Amino acid sequence: MASDVAALKTYNDIPILDWALQDPEASSYAMFRDLRAKTPLVKVSMGMGFMVLALRARTVDQIVSPENTRQLETELKLLQGIFEGPIYDFIAQVMLFANGDAHQRRRQPVARTFAFKLMEAMRPTAAAIAAEIISERLGKGPFDFVREFAAQLPARIIADVLGIPRSDLPVFMKWISDTAESIGFVNLDRRAEIEQSLTDFNAYVDRLLADRRASPRGDFLSDYVAATAASGDMTEGEIRAQIVGLILAGSDTTRNSMCMTLSQLLQHPAQWADLIANPDSLKKKSVEEGLRVEPVVSGIPRVALNDMEVEGFLIPAGAIIAVSILSVLRDPDVYTDPETFNIHRTDQQRWHLAFGAGTHRCAGEALARVELEETFAAIARLAPNTRIVGPNPTLNPGAIRTVDKMIVAFA
Ligand code: HEM
Repeated sequence: MASDVAALKTYNDIPILDWALQDPEASSYAMFRDLRAKTPLVKVSMGMGFMVLALRARTVDQIVSPENTRQLETELKLLQGIFEGPIYDFIAQVMLFANGDAHQRRRQPVARTFAFKLMEAMRPTAAAIAAEIISERLGKGPFDFVREFAAQLPARIIADVLGIPRSDLPVFMKWISDTAESIGFVNLDRRAEIEQSLTDFNAYVDRLLADRRASPRGDFLSDYVAATAASGDMTEGEIRAQIVGLILAGSDTTRNSMCMTLSQLLQHPAQWADLIANPDSLKKKSVEEGLRVEPVVSGIPRVALNDMEVEGFLIPAGAIIAVSILSVLRDPDVYTDPETFNIHRTDQQRWHLAFGAGTHRCAGEALARVELEETFAAIARLAPNTRIVGPNPTLNPGAIRTVDKMIVAFA
């Protein structure tokens, strides 16, 4: 045993990925391809310390297992000096940043009511909203696809799921865009504005919850308040935070995935033609391949609970180690010709890593798939000559990768 431990490489042996030394013209995918062939792990600087990135598919289960690691909780907010107030309270109460019993308690009522069947029932609504936005823009020249389509559709759908009137959409969308910033690294210059929006958003969700308690109407929120009342072990703040969390977790992610997958499809005209010819049979494959080639959540960070061995390296308890979704989704051990966008590929995995892995795996996957599939099927059917005007979009680096600009003309 002692000799095994002695044979392990240490944390200090993990190569450091120095972004500054990388070729600025090279894509992060090319960089990961070269690194992954040489090493299973790299360290990246997070300013005050390092995070280990795991690059290969075979380490995913080990890294996300709750026996080996835990989700980060409020640490990143504390590092930014945010230890009270609406942002702190939200992060401290939401399922995404919880572990063990607290995570289970918060996730269960959502999982029970935000179910696959309910999300599938949203398919005709998603198709109708996509068709509505397309018809407003069809043949009318270039427009801002990010804001006028990709941000609109998820917001309108979640508003329908929650029974929010259309007239509230503009203010609802402003809250979403402000408060989504509380999940990642907070721009402290904007803290006051984000917190004001979060306070208003919380009050609005409180009113929705009170309304369903007073007069249940057989929709998702009525079922959710009934499920939380039956379990009886969530605080009022927790009950609210899961609803705000659902809205936020589903907005940037779906919006940016929509942009990047459409862009990939249009950059591959033969595959776009295949989708136009068979939208119903190819919409699912198109979405899966878009999510594989351009995943918007870049990694799954966790904290090591104990000293653990990963691919011959000893990771000390307390270290932050993340599965690099960007790298793993192009691992040649899993995907043939991984760098190529191919909607016809037959090696997609049953549990798509773009939606995470383990106990925190995305709770909105079914809804996201419905939204994305119906969007591309509608564009292929109603606007088959759609084109991108100007440069193809690129993703900004970050925990959630975002698109700034994508100009599209529907035709
Ligand atoms: C393409 C769109 C989406 C992508 C790529 C995505 C990706 C992810 C990933 C990777 C995680 C796990 C994060 C971690 O383990 O650290 C996650 C969690 C989550 N997602 Fe999504 N998501 C998407 C859409 C949605 C939608 C539409 C909703 C809801 C309306 C949603 C709700 C959630 C929630 C509530 C969690 C937290 C689950 C938990 O902590 O147990 N997501 N998502």
